[in-house]
Amino acid sequence: MEEGDSLSPLTSHFSPGYDLESLRRTEFPWTADTIYLNNASVGPLPERTRRVLDEFNRRRAAPFQLPDRELFATLAESRRLAAELIGAIPEEIALTINTGFGLSLAARSLPLQPGDIVLASDKEFPANVYPWMLLKDRGVTLELAPTTAEGWPDEAHLLDRLNDPRVKVLAVSLVQFSNGYTVDLARLSAATRASGTYLVIDAIQGLGQLPVDVTRTPVDILACGAQKWLLSPWGSGFVYVRRELVRELSPSVTGWMAFEGTEDFTRLTEYCDTLRGDARRFELITLPYQDFAGMNASLGLLLSVGIQRIAEHLQALHAPVLAWAARHQVHVVSPGGDRGSGILCVQPPDVGEAFRRLKAARVISSMREGAIRLSPHLYNSIEEMERVVAILGEP
Ligand SMILES: Cc1ncc(COP(=O)(O)O)c(C=O)c1O
Repeated sequence: MEEGDSLSPLTSHFSPGYDLESLRRTEFPWTADTIYLNNASVGPLPERTRRVLDEFNRRRAAPFQLPDRELFATLAESRRLAAELIGAIPEEIALTINTGFGLSLAARSLPLQPGDIVLASDKEFPANVYPWMLLKDRGVTLELAPTTAEGWPDEAHLLDRLNDPRVKVLAVSLVQFSNGYTVDLARLSAATRASGTYLVIDAIQGLGQLPVDVTRTPVDILACGAQKWLLSPWGSGFVYVRRELVRELSPSVTGWMAFEGTEDFTRLTEYCDTLRGDARRFELITLPYQDFAGMNASLGLLLSVGIQRIAEHLQALHAPVLAWAARHQVHVVSPGGDRGSGILCVQPPDVGEAFRRLKAARVISSMREGAIRLSPHLYNSIEEMERVVAILGEP
């Protein structure tokens, strides 16, 4: 047996700290015949979430069964759970339909002047590029910093650029979509606090698989769609705005409930030009209530398992694939250690053929930037990852 083949101790002693078998059976029953490793594209809905959506839509058919107070309580619960997920308070959370809304909010609301620079890393997902690029209409430049030779954000270079007083915003993904690189948030947070640069985070590839606490690593704005690692319906998501910043920023597009007094439906035409004092000033009501009801169920599940536990589980899941890659000198595109994440990208010599083989065996992954991207989640098992290795075989 080759050294990398000695995985049995991991398998037999492996326990994610929760009842994986029961979770798979009750919340993800399709895992019986499909290996789904594609959370970086779209996360599955747990059964509890699907049931909430079905029930909500059943009542929606006869809308008098869904009183306003229940709709607004649903959104309040979403803000509460999103806040809990990142160590924020609900007043710092605005509900949104995707990540792009929050990033566009940042681009359009931060006080930027002609001549200012927004700094991002090259190879960012486009959702974190185009809203900034559009700012050229205000004379603001988007500077895309070259990545390292490995294709990862060059944090040393990004930090160095903060010395340029024209750099007013640093916009980065918490986790890179194409290689799983996780930025050193503590380092970026400390540096941007020191330089007075706004730090804007696209968190969709990180939240749900990595712990984040904005009280320990402060950021200014953090945007997150919930459709991937948060296992939530399309159309749900949120943006966090640091509390001191909330009142300083005005939304450039607005909704009618962003203003004080609009919860009193008997006096809606007594217009009030005062924006709410909390992050609801950035919300565009009406929102998809059913999707937020679903998000609440999914966040409840993730928080009850614990994000730290999920992060550890994902590292354990990578082990068989990493051992296989080491055995066969297959290029691993993703970093390990603290810069790693639940996303593992590998590049066997005939990557297209390997990808097709996985697909034919009902292993769902994706191809990104010339590599196979494996993105397991809390419901995946070591046995499934060993099966992946068996299918990949001799590259
Ligand atoms: C880093 C990153 N940001 C944003 C998105 C999606 O943006 P949105 O939620 O606006 O569709 C993705 C993936 O689709 C992504 O990988």
